[in-house]
Parts: sequence; structure tokens; C-alpha cells
Amino acid sequence: MNFDFTDEQKMIQESAKDFAENEIAPTAVERDKNAEFPTEIVKKLGELGFMGMMVSPDYGGAGMDTISYVLAMIEISKIDASVGVIMSVNNSLVCWGLESYGSDYIKKKYLIPLAQGEMLGAFALSEPEAGSDATKQKTIADKDGDFYVVNGIKNWISNGLSADYHLVMATTDKEKGHKGISTLLIEKGTEGFGHGVKEDKLGIRSSDTCSLTFENCKVPVENLVWEEGKGFNFAMNTLNGGRIGIASQAIGIAEASLHAAIKYSRERKAFGQTISNFQGIQFMISDMAVKIDAAKMLTLKAAAFKDAGKPFFKEAAMAKLYSSKIAVECALDAIQIHGGYGYVREYLVERYLRDAKITEIYEGTSEIQKIVIARSLLKD
Ligand code: CAA
Repeated sequence: MNFDFTDEQKMIQESAKDFAENEIAPTAVERDKNAEFPTEIVKKLGELGFMGMMVSPDYGGAGMDTISYVLAMIEISKIDASVGVIMSVNNSLVCWGLESYGSDYIKKKYLIPLAQGEMLGAFALSEPEAGSDATKQKTIADKDGDFYVVNGIKNWISNGLSADYHLVMATTDKEKGHKGISTLLIEKGTEGFGHGVKEDKLGIRSSDTCSLTFENCKVPVENLVWEEGKGFNFAMNTLNGGRIGIASQAIGIAEASLHAAIKYSRERKAFGQTISNFQGIQFMISDMAVKIDAAKMLTLKAAAFKDAGKPFFKEAAMAKLYSSKIAVECALDAIQIHGGYGYVREYLVERYLRDAKITEIYEGTSEIQKIVIARSLLKD
């Protein structure tokens, strides 16, 4: 086992850190407050190769491995988890899915601009009555000549308002249950494709989330991704990689919480000394550091399995389950160490808690991750 990163991985980590500190940090507080999408930042991330990190250069990507992706996601999310999720959805759920399962036509027409960051992607699986129980898709896509006619509603779609291309799971054969679900790539602006209002969220407020509506929306048959009936497998396989991205986002938030806690405890004085001298504070700080290291190990292991072409769904579920849990715990501890100052917006730690909570919910709740892990351990 080798715990060293390659020179290239270290370089990517460093460049993500520089970009996050210099280009993302200055506007993070205002964007959170105003729920403002970071359009310019996403454009620049694309120019630097961060929006299609794992895509082959043949399709406009940076051709990097998943370990590099984890390192970059941590650095970006440490500064702004909203930017982290925008990047994660485009990389893991959209680009990876299209490169793995898209036709040559789809890769040339859609993957290249997505990987280059000229276009933004979204992934639409959840519905009002199909969240954790994702097989119960009510969105219908009926084939009519050279088109699918799509009708239905999708919920909680990250990048929903800003995305140019949406991967939409829809039922093409009602008789076949989850084997009758297919994935269609639907362009923004297609007639019959609308969206609901921007959700007013607790955290990751600078990313946009909304519902999508389809009313007799005609989608060319060429925009079918993979094959009819493979949409649920597409969603699950893609989400496995997505869960590595969200685990990394959670680790970024946890690291930001730890750094804030260390900084504040060294400055704040009580009872005649800095509070970092008190064991109560020291215990919290060491617990945070151990949890973060454990979360990183799980996440890098899942990434290494993925890069090695091994099954990694259980590892990805473990990484997301644990990293999201400790992100919430670290943010809470950072607030506790800050006392009253942790409860107001002037200090960043209250945002870390608001941002951390979603990592236990999206891309499969913690309870769903436990189901995935347990089923894998209990199967014959
Ligand atoms: N990896 C690969 N395949 C998987 C899988 C995984 N992790 N989990 C399930 N599958 C496959 C099964 O192997 C099975 O495939 P076959 O039929 O080809 O054999 C198929 O999926 C159905 O599986 P089950 O019979 O186990 O179905 P189930 O209904 O009992 O359980 C579930 C499925 C695991 C609960 C699944 O519905 C699930 O993961 N739900 C959570 C959905 C989710 O993560 N939503 C996130 C929305 S996207 C998002 O959040 C993006 C964002 O905004 C940032």
C-alpha cells in the first residue's frame, strides 16, 4: 500500500487550492447570503479542466484519475461547498455517465462541451414520489416515430436552473418496473420543458436546485443514453461515482471546520489563557482530526478501487455515509468551540453546518447507504 500521492495529483490539489482561495473565497459569503449561482467561477473551473476531470482528452476532458478528483473536490468544497456540488454533479453524474454509456453521437455533441465546461449538466432522477424509492419513476417517455414524448415532474434537481443538458430518467415501458426505465438527454429550451422556482435552501445556497416539468416534450431518439430499459442501472452506476464526489465535498467542509476551530481556539482567551490550552477544546480538535483522516481513507480507497476497475459501490457508500456524518459533527464542534460567535454569520462556521447537512441527504440518504452496504455484506 502506498500513501503517497503522485506529483501530478499533488499539482492538481495545489492548483484547486489556489483557485479556491483566490477566485472562490472572495465572493462565497455574499453568494451564500443572496443564493447567487457562481456563473463566472464555473466558467473558469471549466477553463482549468475541473468540470470534466476524469473524461478522456479525446472528449475534451482532463484525463485525470478519481484520486485527483477527490483531492480537487476537497479543496474546492473547503472554501465553498456550493461550488463543490456544481462541480461534482457535472463530473460524476453527467460526464462520467455519458463517457461510459453514451453513443458516439452523444459524446461528440454533448460530452465535449460539458467536459470543457462550456455547458453545464444536471441529473434528474428524483420525483415527488420517487426519492429514496427511486425505482418508482412516474415520468413517462412514449416513443413516437423518431421522438420520445416526455411527461412528468422531477424534484430537487441540482444545477436544475443553470444546466444546459439534463440527464432524465423516465419510464419507457410501464410493464417492466425498473427494467423499463431509460435515460434521455434533454436540452434546456426544448419545447414542453419547464422548471419550478429556485428552492430557498438551508445550505449550499449558491448552487441552484429546482423541479423540472415535462409536458409533451419531444426528445429525439438519438438522445437515448445507453439502451432502453437501462436507465435505472445507468442511474445507480453513475451515483456510485457521485457518492465519492459527495464524500469529498463533506470532507472539505469538515476540514474547513477543523481549520476554523484551530484558528479561533488559538486566538480566543478565557480564564487568562487561549482556549486551545484547555483539554476540553483539545479533545474536540483531536476527535475532528481523526474523523477527517478516517473519512479520507475511506474515500480515497473507494476512488482507488474505481481507478483500478474494481467494484466500488460498497466502498463509495461507506465513504459517503461516514464522511457526511463527520462533516455534520465537525461543523457542530467548530460552532461549539466558537461559542456565541459560531452562531452568527460573521464567522463562517454556521455555514459549514448548513452546508454539511445536505451531504447526509442527497445522492442517497445515509439510510440508503446503509442498505447498500448491508445488502452487499449479506448477499450469498
Ligand atoms: N450500484 C449498482 N447497481 C445498483 C446499486 C448500486 N449501488 N444499487 C442497486 N443497484 C441495482 C441492482 O443491482 C438492481 O439491478 P438489476 O435489476 O439489473 O439486477 C437494481 O439496481 C434494482 O436494485 P434493487 O432490487 O436493490 O432495488 P430496490 O428498490 O430494492 O433498492 C435502492 C434500490 C438501492 C434503494 C435505490 O433505489 C437507491 O439507491 N435509492 C437512492 C436514490 C438516490 O441515490 N437518489 C439520489 C438522487 S440524485 C441526487 O441527489 C443528485 C444531486 O442532486 C446532487
